Amino acid sequence: MIKVFIAGATGWAGSELSKGVVQNKEMELVGGISRKHKGENLADVLNLGNFDIPIFENIETALAKTDFDVLVDYTRPEIGKKNIISTIKKGKAVVVGTSGLTNEDYAEIEKLALENNTSVLAVGNFAITVVLLQKFSEMAAKYIPNYEIIDYAHEDKIDSPSGTARELAHRLSQIKKPTVHVSDDELIGEKESRGANLEGVHVHSVRLPGHVISIESIFGLKDEKLTIRHDSGSSAEPYVKGALLAIEKVRTFKGLKRGLDTVMDF
Ligand SMILES: NC(=O)c1ccc[n+]([C@@H]2O[C@H](COP(=O)([O-])OP(=O)(O)OC[C@H]3O[C@@H](n4cnc5c(N)ncnc54)[C@H](OP(=O)(O)O)[C@@H]3O)[C@@H](O)[C@H]2O)c1
Repeated sequence: MIKVFIAGATGWAGSELSKGVVQNKEMELVGGISRKHKGENLADVLNLGNFDIPIFENIETALAKTDFDVLVDYTRPEIGKKNIISTIKKGKAVVVGTSGLTNEDYAEIEKLALENNTSVLAVGNFAITVVLLQKFSEMAAKYIPNYEIIDYAHEDKIDSPSGTARELAHRLSQIKKPTVHVSDDELIGEKESRGANLEGVHVHSVRLPGHVISIESIFGLKDEKLTIRHDSGSSAEPYVKGALLAIEKVRTFKGLKRGLDTVMDF
């Protein structure tokens, strides 16, 4: 049995995962974090059945009062980083679902994970269809050195670019950085109009009502173009299966891995 603890267990993504963990025969949900529901039983809050799953206010109390094997963080980047670091320092494994952590954050997390002989699996998007988008985009980047990324989301998404877009930019830049046709210094007009420059990849974030979560990688060659697009639905269900797989696999290595495909058989 893997003892799982979820920071953000009452949130949109965390509550769906809590249900998935409770239904998984190889896992036990031993606790969660939520400020609004601290002191309550997560099983009652989420209607999970006859279980006793304590909710804590913060990671310090949780680490002092519970014993778990894997922390899943589904909170916000600033609080997530703190949760991850506190947990690694106790030698426990972490699955990161929270988006918005930077490459610098991950460099620090990797170093700490190795020093504490534990592991962190960070996945910008647990949906299998997004893993496929990443893979197809990586294939395209091998042949087409001109590409940009657009990430679309609802108007109140606070992290920008999205975790999925960050991870994709990082991956594609490792395959082949996009060719620079006009450098940012040569631009006439507002440089921001070209989007964020992440490791040489231009990433544009659209935040509008009526949008859920979508991502496009756009490739261009002379007289031809290729668009690879993923659209999420409105529920958090597509993320559950991938998150359960991440929980299962996170302790099979030491250090940091980024992306679900790193623990999948492709
Ligand atoms: N990797 C993926 O596939 C994937 C999928 C979906 C979402 N995400 C990411 O996961 C994160 C959570 O998304 P969401 O939509 O589930 O958000 P959400 O509905 O707002 O839930 C956030 C959760 O974190 C808790 N929380 C927030 N601030 C906290 C704090 N300071 N201390 C303790 N607990 C805190 C909230 O509980 P209280 O407010 O009661 O504290 C709540 O349980 C985001 O970064 C999102 O982009 C990733």
